[in-house]
Parts: sequence; C-alpha cells; structure tokens
Amino acid sequence: MRCKITKSKINEFMNFGQMPLANGFLNKEEFKDEFFYKMSVGFSEEISLFQLNDHPSPQKMFNEKYPFFTSGSKFMINHFSEYCTWVKNNYLKNGGKVIEIGSNDGTMMQFFNNFGYEICGFEPSKSAADISKSKNLNTFEEFFTENNVKDKLKNSKYKIDAIVAANVICHVPNLIDLIKGVDYLLTKKGVFIFEEPYLGSMYEKTSYDQIYDEHIFIFSISSIMKIFELFNFKLVEAVPQITHGGSMRYVIARKENDEIVENLNLQKQLLHEKKKNLDNIDGCLSFKKNCENSKLNLIEKITSIKKKGKIICGYGATSKSTTVLNYCDIGEESIDCIYDTTPEKINKFSPGKHIPIKDFKEFYSNYPDYVYLFAWNHKEEIFKKESDYKGKWFSHVEI
Ligand code: TMP
Repeated sequence: MRCKITKSKINEFMNFGQMPLANGFLNKEEFKDEFFYKMSVGFSEEISLFQLNDHPSPQKMFNEKYPFFTSGSKFMINHFSEYCTWVKNNYLKNGGKVIEIGSNDGTMMQFFNNFGYEICGFEPSKSAADISKSKNLNTFEEFFTENNVKDKLKNSKYKIDAIVAANVICHVPNLIDLIKGVDYLLTKKGVFIFEEPYLGSMYEKTSYDQIYDEHIFIFSISSIMKIFELFNFKLVEAVPQITHGGSMRYVIARKENDEIVENLNLQKQLLHEKKKNLDNIDGCLSFKKNCENSKLNLIEKITSIKKKGKIICGYGATSKSTTVLNYCDIGEESIDCIYDTTPEKINKFSPGKHIPIKDFKEFYSNYPDYVYLFAWNHKEEIFKKESDYKGKWFSHVEI
C-alpha cells in the first residue's frame, strides 16, 4: 500500500477482513446489494501515520442518508460549547471570521454564531446540512476541497482567522487537498484547530473499533507535526480531550507566524509518544496482538453467556460497532437487537451482520440479562439515563 500523504510504499500490518460501510444501516431489501471492502491498515514510519489501506469513496460514505448528527448527544453539545469558548479565549479574542469543516447539523457553528463571529460551514451530507441550514447557519453542502473553497469563497483568500473542525480531518483521504484549501483561506496569523480520535488512546484501550471506513487516519501528535511541516505549517499545541474515548485537539499555525510559539508541553508530549512507540511500527505490532486477544476474549465471553441461555442486547448502534461485529463475526444468534436513539437507524439492520436496530424506548420493557455497550464512549450519559437497569453491562473495552 502507499502512504496517502507522501505516496511512499508502506506495509499493511493488519487485516480486519471484509467490512461494510460503518454507517450503512440498511433495510432487508438492501441486504443482497450490500457493499463490502477489505479493511486493512498500514503505518508510514516516515511521517508516523497510522492509516487505512483501501476505503470506499467519501461520496459513498457521506451521502444524503448519512445518519450521524452531532446534536444526538447532550454531552457532545456541551463539549462543542466548551470547544468554542476555548477557541475564543485562546486564539480569537478580537472576533473574526471562522469556517468549520464538516459542520454537521451546525451544533458548533451555532455557538460561534452566538458569540458574534462570522461563521460558515462545509458539510457534504445533505441530511446534516439541511438541519444546519434550517437554523439559518451559512452552510455549503460540499466537501471542503481546494476547488470548492476557491469556487465558493473566492473573496476570502487570506481572510479567515480560524478554521475549526472536530472528528472530520481523519475522514479526509485527500488531506493534501484539504491543507491547500486551508492555506488559501487563512490570514498570515490565522489558525487551524481540529480534534480527532487519538492513536495513544486507541492503543491504550485496544479500542480497535475506532478503525472503520470513515476514519482513514488515526492521528498522533508526531504524525500531525510531520504532516503539517511538509506544507509550511507548524504544530503549536496539542490538548488531550476525553471525547470519543480519547481525542487530541491540535492547533496549527503558519510557520512564519512568530507571534504564536510552540507550547512548552509539546516536546514532552512528543517524547512520551516515542516511549509508547506511537511513532513507529512496534506500537502497531503490539496493538495488532492486543486486538487479536481482545477478539478471542470477546467471543469467549459471549459464547459462555449464550451457553447459559441468557439474552444479550446491544446499546448504541455506533459506527464503531460495525468493526467489532464484523471483525469478531458476531450476529443475531448472539445479540438479539441493538437499542438506539437515532430515528434514521431505528427499524433498520446493522451493517454486515444484520442485527435489528430498535428504539431505545423499548429497552425499558424488554430488559435483557446482558447489555453490550457499543457506545462505550458515551457511558456516563447512558448509565445515568438507564440507571433502572440492574442487569450486566459489558463491552470489548473496559467500562
Ligand atoms: P457515535 O459513537 O458514533 O457518536 O454514535 C453514538 C450512537 O449511540 C448513536 O447512534 C446514538 C447512540 N446513542 C444512544 O442510543 N443513546 C445515547 O444516550 C447516546 C449518547 C448515544
């Protein structure tokens, strides 16, 4: 396989087998035409970048049916409010123009709007963009590409003070093109701030379910620093976040911008990553072993529960669950159904394994013996909501 940034040859080090689209929840009639691809991962030692090999086109993934909405989680709404305040206090004290890449249903744009910033967003999924537009937020229903930026924002060359994103940059296969768009828009002192699931957290938790078609890259501080150096930008700060089971917020500035200096913590963080092998293939190989063990343990656990004649249901039909269920080959024979809050998923079936998705409101009247928490990254919110359930929760990661 080839590195998606430098195009140099890299080795595939792990194959997860045939995978459907992580968010490809479907109806019975669609089973026969379901799309699958081989999900395998490789690591570029040159830029320390963990990446998917083959993946479906972004157009296939982020289409009019894309069923993910930021506002589905109260915790995430609150997080984006804090994110916006953090950007304001640290980098945009004097107001300015902001663009959000992958603005989804406008949850974060709304906060910037309320603070009085001039904000617009790029959101290719019609379902999400429509919601954002209905809130009167300036939304381009487009991918953030160099061409789209030049086409839609020709008058904004070097005029944007901050470009922000969350859980989006790792979705973009042509990252070079995205960076060119950022370069076109940012003022000399502008900043590019984004947060993404963190490789260090994925290794620590063996949360291999972070890997799915939409997550083309799993970034580390080392990889972000090396990628942006190739394009005359510098990494100035990396701030850990608890979202999505462990994420990192990165702040990028133009190399020539002397007013923004590298945060004192950064060198320490990079050293720590070296120690944990986040910047080399050894980390990948240990991770691979841990994934294989995790798969065996999970299958053993589910088999032993089923042998006792107990009922297991899933909670949270997450995109991540698609990786676990298909990699570990777990279907309806083990998990009766998955409860979820998302109207677009309810009454459909899970990608690949075709487990029925049911309205979470039905959970109360059908408590099973065991619940597999697929949405483990939302556990506080869910445990609080479901405190009446006295059965057993479990997951493939520690909860
Ligand atoms: P995510 O991990 O990709 O954000 O997906 C979270 C999924 O979990 C989404 O389908 C909604 C679902 N969910 C619930 O069913 N109940 C909840 O309380 C929360 C927070 C999420």
